[in-house]
Amino acid sequence: MNKIKHTSNYKFAGYDTVELAKKYGTPLYVLSEEIIRNKCREIKSGFLESYENTKAVYASKAFLTMTMCKIIESEGLGLDVVSGGELYIAIKAGFPMEKVLFHGNNKSYDEIEMAISHDVGRIVVDHWDELYMIEEIAAKMNKKVKVLIRIAPGIEGNTHKYISTGQKDSKFGIPLEKKSIDEAVTKAINSKHIELMGFHFHIGSNLSDNDSYIKSIEIVTRLYKRLKDDFGFIAKELNTGGGYGIYYTNGDCAKPLRYFTDSIMKAVWDNCKLLNLDIPTVIIEPGRWIVGEAGITLYTVGAVKEIPDVRTYVSIDGGLPDNPRPALYNAKYEAIVANKYDKKPDRIVTVAGKCCESGDILIWDLKAPEIERGDILAVLSTGAYNYSMANNYNATPRPAVLLLSKDRERIMVERESYEDLLRRERIIF
Ligand code: LLP
Repeated sequence: MNKIKHTSNYKFAGYDTVELAKKYGTPLYVLSEEIIRNKCREIKSGFLESYENTKAVYASKAFLTMTMCKIIESEGLGLDVVSGGELYIAIKAGFPMEKVLFHGNNKSYDEIEMAISHDVGRIVVDHWDELYMIEEIAAKMNKKVKVLIRIAPGIEGNTHKYISTGQKDSKFGIPLEKKSIDEAVTKAINSKHIELMGFHFHIGSNLSDNDSYIKSIEIVTRLYKRLKDDFGFIAKELNTGGGYGIYYTNGDCAKPLRYFTDSIMKAVWDNCKLLNLDIPTVIIEPGRWIVGEAGITLYTVGAVKEIPDVRTYVSIDGGLPDNPRPALYNAKYEAIVANKYDKKPDRIVTVAGKCCESGDILIWDLKAPEIERGDILAVLSTGAYNYSMANNYNATPRPAVLLLSKDRERIMVERESYEDLLRRERIIF
């Protein structure tokens, strides 16, 4: 246990990160159970218990392991999965299937079959084609499947283009035009094996303002009113997606949960009142907000290369394979030299990964004290979309995941070995 030592090293969740790096090796993903649970509890008190008829599901694409499923289950939240693989992990963890919501813009027949045979709580239909597959499979199994229909509300999220999904030109959701919507709705409400519960939208990820939620809710409630008038269809649920932004760097103005959820609930109430609609059950789907700040990654510094009058490259023993976000989205991170936490950050360095790519730069222009080989670097807010997006580029084994709890630390996912890299290979010549 590393909790009781008093050093000037950087501590995370009460643990000495330099000791953790020594004990478990680097790169190492480190997650705090307490932070994850506190986030879930904030959702419970600030949203679920503050408003009637609300549900929260954790978007597992942010970080998914069987242990994470256990934490989410014990905190009473549901789970959003987006592939057969994510569903499989939830099944193996024994997650209650009625609390699982199945997403995906191109679900295969097999994936839908898997979801229906395990009685997932909701399938979020992304394309009217899917309704035919659901109908056929549900009829075969003699089941009735509860679905939501995902729409693209035509609202752009103020975020990186690659993680903006609500705009009209999006691969996600059914476009918001009468013919497409009506085709999907009539198919769903005329089916013996489908129960249409309502609609879903997800505007984008890592959003820092609530405007786009408010605008989208106005659009969807108007749709609810039209469907009530045209088909007598009453939508019981409205899923407003995830997307709440978090703290990555000092430049971010991360907002509290209620900034998003209070404005969502107010927009639902105001619009429903105006249009004389019953208030539907409101669902939220945060991923990053629950787990992002609960994680850090520890690295060991290797080569330090100063190019006079240009910059100093500090190379670490990980990078793009364990965190592709800077290369993909130009994502920014803060980092701390963990063994020099008490030293003044009086210079600027560039933190480079060890991949054979000039684009493998984790942090441009980090303020740091003098850095040398062997130092331990802690990169902050890596809990979301790091482990889940990790890859083996340059045949790099993926790091272990360590879970820090109040009284003990445990490896939740083992470090990959070189043998693991070859496990699926055959020499065929
Ligand atoms: N619901 C749906 C339907 C989604 O597509 C997503 C994220 C979420 C919820 C959760 O969004 P969150 O609360 O985590 O922002 N790899 C990217 C993020 C992709 C997000 C995709 N969908 C990144 O590293 O920033």
